[in-house]
Amino acid sequence: MKTDDRVLGLLYDRLERFILLDELATAAATTTSSLKGALERIGLRGHEVEFSPTQGVRLLGPVELDAHLIERELGTRRIGRHVICFEEVDSTNDVAFDSARQADADGLVVLAQVQRKGRGRQGRRWVGPAGKSILMSVLLIDPQEKLAHEALTIAAGLAVAQGLEKVCPLDCRLKWPNDVLLDGAKLCGVLVEIREIQGRRCVVVGVGVNVNGAPPPDKVDAPATCLSDHLGHEVDRLAVVRGVLGALDEQVTGVLDRQLDELHRAWMSRCGMMNQRVSVLCGNEKYSGRVLDVSPMEGLVLLDDSGCQIHLPAEGSSIVK
Ligand code: BTN
Repeated sequence: MKTDDRVLGLLYDRLERFILLDELATAAATTTSSLKGALERIGLRGHEVEFSPTQGVRLLGPVELDAHLIERELGTRRIGRHVICFEEVDSTNDVAFDSARQADADGLVVLAQVQRKGRGRQGRRWVGPAGKSILMSVLLIDPQEKLAHEALTIAAGLAVAQGLEKVCPLDCRLKWPNDVLLDGAKLCGVLVEIREIQGRRCVVVGVGVNVNGAPPPDKVDAPATCLSDHLGHEVDRLAVVRGVLGALDEQVTGVLDRQLDELHRAWMSRCGMMNQRVSVLCGNEKYSGRVLDVSPMEGLVLLDDSGCQIHLPAEGSSIVK
């Protein structure tokens, strides 16, 4: 590991608390003079480092998104072995797909501060205020086609809700197929896309979370919220990214291991739509009925006015009211 990353990790472990330069140099297995260079470069990476003549140095929060701090001791099996953070891209989903040609790309995580052409489901746009949200894509190379699209789509939304709840005191609800809501307003959207690249099925799970700012009302179709408005303070995006990646890793493993009963149970315990009357646009058809179930293999199950059950797949469908 590079000295800069080691120093940054040590500072992050004692976030907001000072450490003497000598002590930090020893812990990072470097000299005091090399440490000074490392601290300068850490500052240039966008981190706020404060010096005190008597107490040494400390890292101030909230900490900027940083590939090393995300990868470090993440404890996941598959997701997040490699993380890349960009300042600005068209869409993190596109960058993730473009990376699929590289060796060892499975589990890659792509983050950006800004997206010029962020995509939402059903051809909608996704807008996140610059530097305030999480705009993230995870690449999964799935040559044997083991990741069932329907199950992965709902598992991804559940993972985001679970990851957020791990790091913040929240009670998230899920709206099919994978919106995460707080008090009825949209906090997070997930876009699962699949492409064949070099003869292999590549799946990208794109996640947009409104953390310290929500998009302006004229840029969204439905009421939106963000974590900081809900909690009343600024939220550390780094902690949120790590929480979501950990939960996504577990959910992806669950889908591969066909733990669909558990997925169903966990999803339904957060489902904010049971028995509600909804209308769903699926392709060019509109279906209306009461929500009976959300099935990991069969999608949304509605009971229509004539008492018939309708099964709607997540792909190509969207709730319109
Ligand atoms: C939706 O609710 O419509 C899904 C929104 C998904 C947005 C994320 S932001 C990161 C990733 N890159 C994109 O272009 N879209 C997804």
